[in-house]
Amino acid sequence: MRKKRRRKKTADEIESLDKRIRVLLWERYGNTLAELEKIGNGVVNEFREWTPLKLLALSYFVGPYLRIMKGLEERYGSTKVFYIDVFAGTGLNKVEDVLFAGSPLVAIDCAHQCERKFDLMIFNDLFYGKVLENRIKALTDLFPWLEGKFIVYSTDANKVLADVVEKYLAKEKYKNYLAFIDPYRSEIKWKALEKLLRIKHGDVFITCQARSIAREIGGCRKGLKREVCRELAEYFGEDPSVWMRLESEEEVRDFYIAKVNRHKPFVECITIRSGRVGKGFEYVLIFASGDDNPDWALLNTKS
Ligand SMILES: C[S@@+](CC[C@H](N)C(=O)[O-])C[C@H]1O[C@@H](n2cnc3c(N)ncnc32)[C@H](O)[C@@H]1O
Repeated sequence: MRKKRRRKKTADEIESLDKRIRVLLWERYGNTLAELEKIGNGVVNEFREWTPLKLLALSYFVGPYLRIMKGLEERYGSTKVFYIDVFAGTGLNKVEDVLFAGSPLVAIDCAHQCERKFDLMIFNDLFYGKVLENRIKALTDLFPWLEGKFIVYSTDANKVLADVVEKYLAKEKYKNYLAFIDPYRSEIKWKALEKLLRIKHGDVFITCQARSIAREIGGCRKGLKREVCRELAEYFGEDPSVWMRLESEEEVRDFYIAKVNRHKPFVECITIRSGRVGKGFEYVLIFASGDDNPDWALLNTKS
């Protein structure tokens, strides 16, 4: 894994970051988010103030990814490009009273700004698939290129990932994918994720709740919470004797990253933290690429 280079942000970068945060509010599309909220009786994913940060990170990824794909196609010929978000939510997120774009809308908006779109955007949510589908359908007037270019499932993410690999990715000779894997905690099973990671040409952005998982491992070690132990065994794809040795969130993060790294040669991570180190809320964003030196690794906040 590469070491992160830390440096002070320039004033330009801070301004660009501020602009990017406002992009999540979809100001440029007028009252579209409020209109979408009416579909599905106002159901939204409610989060705390640190949640938009992962969406901000996603928004830095999608445009450059598509531009890189376009460049590669110009050099090597046509490729099918997939976007996969199997914990997609309702399409709308709320922090207190503020409504902002959920991950599917962030990806759609970023793709809209690019000449090269995705050939297929695959979304899924076990609980909100239907409302998300209706909301995305309502967006096709605003984004006509979306017509026929998206599918929304409403089932278990693990099943969808396995099916998508089989039904779409395995069949295409020249393909690439960008996947966003954003479970609440440990709903993603290693067996399903590994199927995707084995498809070499593709980048993955995973949220890893390392702190909460480390706490649950503590409970499992004490013989509590059998159901959680079973879920963690599937999350890590390992026998409990392996992951029960992980004693801290850093060990959980590094262990999981090492597993991803076995399939993807390039892995970087960012820790999102609220409050002091060791207190409050923390999660890790893992970026992995099938390319051992992806062009997006050079991106800064101006991109
Ligand atoms: C962290 S939220 C995702 C938020 C969304 N990615 C966003 O940023 O706007 C996790 C989502 O996963 C869904 N979910 C939970 N368990 C699931 C499962 N086993 N399969 C698919 N979706 C699941 C929940 O309904 C919830 O909307």
